[in-house]
Amino acid sequence: MMNKNLDRNKLPKHVAIIMDGNGRWAAKNGLQRISGHDSGVKSVQEIVEEALDLNIPYLTLYAFSTDNWNRPQHEIGVLMNLLVKYLKSEFNKLIKNNIRLNTIGNISALPKLVQDEVKRVSEKTKNNEKMVLTIALSYGAREEIEDVVKKIALEVKNNTISIENVDQSIINRHLYTRNLPDVDLLIRTSGEQRLSNFLLWQIAYAELYFTKIYWPDFGKKDLHEALLNYQNRERRFGKTSEQINV
Ligand code: IPE
Ligand code: IPE
Ligand code: MG
Repeated sequence: MMNKNLDRNKLPKHVAIIMDGNGRWAAKNGLQRISGHDSGVKSVQEIVEEALDLNIPYLTLYAFSTDNWNRPQHEIGVLMNLLVKYLKSEFNKLIKNNIRLNTIGNISALPKLVQDEVKRVSEKTKNNEKMVLTIALSYGAREEIEDVVKKIALEVKNNTISIENVDQSIINRHLYTRNLPDVDLLIRTSGEQRLSNFLLWQIAYAELYFTKIYWPDFGKKDLHEALLNYQNRERRFGKTSEQINV
């Protein structure tokens, strides 16, 4: 039976979102792509607030991929400035709401100004514990896996671990997401049904949810809809339905 109301005791622990469609939202409204990114920030604010209200402990947002470096220089610049602006303007809210800022990706590839702000806010919020807000910046899942392989290979070479001990828990501990649980629900906006190099390892058993809504139009009620959809699925993890429902 399809439940119509959100069960607050059965929410996903970790929600990840591919925030897509800013450019198309802008085009649809006769605006420049940049305005789409600008409006996308409002959705970020609304969704963070709502996730917090719902007591979702882990929210991960894909904000900039390694492949996004191939966009026009001007657009990259605008996105970087928006990031700094967002971190500065939200800082007090993060403190007040007990949110820890975390980032994943190749942070050293970002402009110094962004790196400094990310470091400052991460440091100042590092003991906050109501929610971990992870922003994926210059992130690529294949790059992450490449990094993991290199780190583990080096440890094997230095005899700090032996090959026999390399297992999934060692791999987990070397991922950028080492402090996060697996993703339960992955949402992508804008109608595209692809992963675009986001969290490939961590979504092995995530429920995938695709909506046609462009990111700047994605709000509280759309998050509720995604969560409700999630709650009406049966996660079997390879078992039979009978085993799950004992
Ligand atoms: C998502 O919106 C934001 C980033 C990838 C940074 P897009 O900019 O990809 O918007 P579309 O896909 O062109 O509509
Ligand atoms: C994925 O969106 C990256 C982010 C949302 C940050 P893209 O718009 O870059 O993905 P593709 O190019 O459509 O696959
Ligand atoms: Mg896009």
